[in-house]
Amino acid sequence: MSVEPPPTRDSGAEEMRTGRLLLTRPGPDDLDAIFALHTDPEACAHNPSDLMETRRDADLLLLRWTHQWNRYGFGYWMVRRHDSPEPLGICGVKIVGYRRHAVLNLFYRFFPASWGHGYAGEAATAAVDWAHTHRPDDVVIARVRPENIASQRVALRAGLVRAEEFDTPGDDGADWFYVSA
Ligand SMILES: CC(C)(COP(=O)(O)OP(=O)(O)OC[C@H]1O[C@@H](n2cnc3c(N)ncnc32)[C@H](O)[C@@H]1OP(=O)(O)O)[C@@H](O)C(=O)NCCC(=O)NCCS
Repeated sequence: MSVEPPPTRDSGAEEMRTGRLLLTRPGPDDLDAIFALHTDPEACAHNPSDLMETRRDADLLLLRWTHQWNRYGFGYWMVRRHDSPEPLGICGVKIVGYRRHAVLNLFYRFFPASWGHGYAGEAATAAVDWAHTHRPDDVVIARVRPENIASQRVALRAGLVRAEEFDTPGDDGADWFYVSA
């Protein structure tokens, strides 16, 4: 990254509500869910390089996410329904470097049992809306495998548009780019 992006403080990011969902900053109590999600072959089918082998991998991932939260005041959220403590998945935006620019990477991964209810679309829309409000100068990107149709639908639902010109060969095969308009 060529320029250090500024932090965003006091934006209400640590806990957000949508119509059905509660989005919260991840903490140590979420480690079981983070590990379970990243050892689920179905949830990582399109991104096998994200699969974890040991609990230590989950510790390290949470450490990186916490570092981003502490440094910038936002990051990935745990997603739950208002009426249940069980995590549905993870969604959020995080600063990454792309071609020497700082951009916001939109991420979503949900437990297969929760798929098909529009939760990912609802959470991703909230994440992109948050970014537009609190980081209006930042471009939001999502990188999606060509065969991951559900993820492409979520990116579009969150308001991103397909941008072929940015496509790259990713860690797990081609990455199709979706960007904020
Ligand atoms: C991608 C993912 C988050 C979608 O979760 P979800 O809860 O099923 O998403 P939603 O219910 O909000 O549905 C999203 C859209 O995808 C469509 N969809 C869902 N499964 C689909 C499938 N197998 N094939 C085609 N479309 C599908 C839905 O109809 C919906 O379309 P719409 O917005 O036009 O109505 C979920 O499949 C997942 O966690 N996958 C594994 C992790 C992953 O691949 N993350 C993305 C990495 S880039």
